[in-house]
Amino acid sequence: MFIDSRSLNSPLPCNSRRPIWVFGYGSLIFKVDFPYLERRRARIRDWVRRFWQGSHDHRGTPDAPGRVVTLIPQKGAVCEGVAYLVSPEVLAHLDYREKNGYLRLETELIFSDQETARGLVYIATEDNPAFLGPAPEEEIARQIARSEGPSGPNRDYLLKLARALRELDEHDSHVFAIERHLLALEA
Ligand code: SIN
Repeated sequence: MFIDSRSLNSPLPCNSRRPIWVFGYGSLIFKVDFPYLERRRARIRDWVRRFWQGSHDHRGTPDAPGRVVTLIPQKGAVCEGVAYLVSPEVLAHLDYREKNGYLRLETELIFSDQETARGLVYIATEDNPAFLGPAPEEEIARQIARSEGPSGPNRDYLLKLARALRELDEHDSHVFAIERHLLALEA
């Protein structure tokens, strides 16, 4: 179901004029349509990346949603991504972009030199109406292969994410398995 989660996000403290770290693990890695002050390789603990969130507004339509990634809690897991230091004004743009079910969560970011910082991450939890949940990876690939939305074909999201993860030297077996299935379907 298409929803707009922006109003559910807690407002930022109004005295906060300080730049904020935002962790990206999906399209925020490969589609950077916002200004930032610094970009660093980072990871967060106890979350795994999964193509379990419906996309009714970017990579699908309300009638035929695509699939995009969200994070699922898993004790001991590590999710690799990229952190951006942004000025607080940028959050309005990100809230709009991530409005189909994602909420900002505050968490600890770990940079590649082991330095840490508090930051925000956009997560679509399983209680949001656009959540699709688990499915066999081949079935996820089929859904991605046939989906398209205002931001373009769902396959481009998958292939760009897989390429960006390879550039980070990150092996994400879930993403790479879906990519393999998609390429086999297209062969
Ligand atoms: C993110 O990239 O961090 C959030 C999910 C997405 O927009 O793909």
